Amino acid sequence: MKESNLFTPAKLGPITLRNRTIRSAAFEGMCENNSPTQQLMDYHTSVARGGIGMTTIAYAAVSHSGLSFPRQLWMRPDIIPQLKELTTAIHAEGAKASIQLGHCGNMSHKKTAGTLPVGASGGFNLYSPTFVHTLSIEEIRQIALDFGEAVRIAVKAGFDCVEIHAGHGYLISQFLSPFTNHRKDKFGGSLDNRMRFMRMCINEALSAADGKIAVIAKTNMRDGFKGGLEIDDCITIAKELESLGLDGLVLSGGFVSKAPMYVMRGSMPIKTLTHYMDCWWLKYGVKLAGGVMIPSVPFKELYFLEDALKFRKELELPLIYVGGCVSRSGIDKVLDSGFEFVQMGRALVNEPDFVNRMLNGEERCGCDHTNYCIGRMYSIDMQCHKHLNDLPKKLIKEIESINKKNGI
Ligand SMILES: Cc1cc2nc3c(=O)[nH]c(=O)nc-3n(C[C@H](O)[C@H](O)[C@H](O)COP(=O)(O)O)c2cc1C
Repeated sequence: MKESNLFTPAKLGPITLRNRTIRSAAFEGMCENNSPTQQLMDYHTSVARGGIGMTTIAYAAVSHSGLSFPRQLWMRPDIIPQLKELTTAIHAEGAKASIQLGHCGNMSHKKTAGTLPVGASGGFNLYSPTFVHTLSIEEIRQIALDFGEAVRIAVKAGFDCVEIHAGHGYLISQFLSPFTNHRKDKFGGSLDNRMRFMRMCINEALSAADGKIAVIAKTNMRDGFKGGLEIDDCITIAKELESLGLDGLVLSGGFVSKAPMYVMRGSMPIKTLTHYMDCWWLKYGVKLAGGVMIPSVPFKELYFLEDALKFRKELELPLIYVGGCVSRSGIDKVLDSGFEFVQMGRALVNEPDFVNRMLNGEERCGCDHTNYCIGRMYSIDMQCHKHLNDLPKKLIKEIESINKKNGI
């Protein structure tokens, strides 16, 4: 049997991680006033203390118009001191600090984004639900510049890496996907045209990082629904990302407005999701239509590995595998298949110290994939139900019934 390299250091562009593990960007919902909080710092410090190679602060918006949630981070100069405190605390535990940068595009509300949500193409986004403004060429240029500015802020705040969110149906992905991009100008039509906005954002990010920190991107291997991007186009996109000079790629899939569970698998706990919502009409809408609008996709360990191996064959740059890493043997299998790093989301929501536990012989994480954390994250914050002892009865029942369906 090949010796495991899980606990060996490895380079990611200009930085070296102490091992092959990265906490994936999993939205925390812990940023009151769109700024870092003690709660955010405590969570990421616990992951860092728990042995991770690098932890990723999730889903920070590059501009006000890029915010989809009220408790989401918004990159702006006045939060640099708090971000610096956060990276210092992570570094003190021996881990590297990364931050995911994105723009939600049409997945927002005027109240949160300060403006009518924007997109590659306008119209009505039923999932949010909201009308959407078609971005002008000038506005497109400004958002690409915002990516660069956000990277400059990340460098000043002491981050070691930035992860550009180019997947999951957020703005860059809305430009890439023929489902959301109906433009007739140089940003629409052919795949090459649809990649133009992505290229602009990545180039701005790379030039702002200037080799001082690592720049990686999270990209889709498939959008996960009929009419979205399939694997061949996604391989072309990944090759384009590689040629732009990124230090690594995170391979994921799914589209929040069409196939959200394709990202994480399992089912969305609708009772949990609606229980925490405070907008009454959305609550009732989701209660009625949530099951249809958010279709379940079965969970299995390493659910993206088959597709990810096809990308491994076509690319040279370091690849970061994400999706269903729940056991030591599974993670070793991924690393043995030629991936340089693994990202984990739910395993570390459940057990922030899962990496050290594996070091001490633990085989499997305690996450049951009922996805309570996801249902809750949309309205309050990211928490694992296993750490809460004041859950209402109806939510306990929902968790039990999902577990029963999953044979747990
Ligand atoms: C609570 C939660 C929040 C998430 N938020 C984000 C996010 O902000 N950005 C992102 O790219 N992926 C997000 N994801 C997806 C994860 O990063 C990861 O791709 C997915 O959960 C699969 O990994 P896992 O099986 O290890 O959980 C989220 C996942 C969870 C569970």
